Amino acid sequence: MSDGDTILVVGGAGYIGSHCLHELRRRGFKTLCYDNLSEGHRAACGETPLIVGSLNEEEKLDRLFAEHQVRAVFHFAANCYVGESVENPEKYYFNNVASTLVLLRAMRRAEVKRFIFSSTAATFGNPVRERIDESHPQEPINPYGRTKLMIEQILRDYGPAYGFSYCILRYFNAAGAVEGGAIGEDHDPETHLIPLVLKAAMGQRPDIKIFGTDYDTPDGTCVRDYIHILDLADAHIRGLEYLEKGGASTAFNLGNGSGYSVQQVIDTVEKVTGKAVVRSAAPRRAGDPAVLVADYKKASEVLGWKPRFGDLETIVRTAWEWASGHPEGYQDR
Ligand code: UFG
Repeated sequence: MSDGDTILVVGGAGYIGSHCLHELRRRGFKTLCYDNLSEGHRAACGETPLIVGSLNEEEKLDRLFAEHQVRAVFHFAANCYVGESVENPEKYYFNNVASTLVLLRAMRRAEVKRFIFSSTAATFGNPVRERIDESHPQEPINPYGRTKLMIEQILRDYGPAYGFSYCILRYFNAAGAVEGGAIGEDHDPETHLIPLVLKAAMGQRPDIKIFGTDYDTPDGTCVRDYIHILDLADAHIRGLEYLEKGGASTAFNLGNGSGYSVQQVIDTVEKVTGKAVVRSAAPRRAGDPAVLVADYKKASEVLGWKPRFGDLETIVRTAWEWASGHPEGYQDR
C-alpha cells in the first residue's frame, strides 16, 4: 500500500471538494486537486495545485499517481441534480458510476487503497422513519441516488477483493461557506434552497418559490437537515484518520440531526441579511420527501464527530458572506 504524503481530492474545484481542500490545507495536509472544471472553479482550489483532467483520461491518472505519492483519495467528482438525472440518466451513470470505476482502477494500479467517498441522503429514498441512521433501507427514488448507491455497493465488493479501505459519507443538505466568504457555493444552474433565497434577498430573483405548502409538517413546507460544509470537511478528515488507524470500511450519515422547514430557512435569511424576501407558493417538486433528518450517532461514536457550526443562523450567515461578496459567483464562466 502507498505510504504517500498527498491527499488527492478528485472534484476539488466544486463546492464540497473545495471546502475539504481548504480544511485539509488549514490542518497542514499536502493536497492535490484533480478536476475537469465542468462544474468546478479554478479559484476554488486556493493554493492547492490543480491538474485539469477528466476521470476517463486513464493515462493522465496513471501519470498523476506515478508523479505524486498519494496517501488517500477523496472523491467528490459527480453530477448531483436529481431532476437532471431523471431527464438524462446516461450522463449520471457514465459520470458518476463508470468514471468512478476508472478512478478505482487507476488507484489499484498505483496501489493507493484509501478512499473517502462522497455519497448522499438520496440513497435512502423515501424515509420510513423520522431520523435516518445507517440501518435505514436504501431504496433511492431517482437515478442520481441510484448512482451513488451503486458505488457504495461496488466499494463493498472491491474492499475485501482488492484490499481497499473506504469511508462512505452520506450528506444531508450541505450548506454554508468558510468564515469570511473566500470560497462558497456557485452552481450553474443553482437549484439549492439557501443560495436561491440569498439571491432573492439580493434582488437577483423576484421571489423564492416554495415547492409545496401542504406537507404534513408544522408549517406545511419541507423539512431538511442543513449541515455546514466545514462540518462535512471535518468528517472527511476524521474518516481518513479512522482508516489510517486501521478502522474497518464503513458508511456514516452526516447531518445536524435537526430539521428546518423551507419557511424557517427563509425567515433566517431575512434575519441574517436584514432584507425581505418575497415568497410564492408553488406546486410540490417531484421526488421531494416531506422530512429528511439524519441520525449522526454512528459518526459521533466512531469518528468522534459532531457538528460545530450546527445552528442555521451560522450556516446562513457564512453562505451570505460568500454570496454578498461574490454576487456573480466566481465569474469564470
Ligand atoms: N426548495 C424550494 N424552493 C426552491 C428550492 C428548494 O422550496 O427554489 C425546497 C425543496 O423543495 C426542498 C428544500 O427546499 O424541500 C431543500 O431543497 P434543495 O434543492 O436545497 O435540497 P434537496 O433537499 O432537494 O437536495 C439535497 C441535496 C441533493 C440530494 C438530496 C437528497 O442537495 O444533492 O438532498 O434528498 F440528492
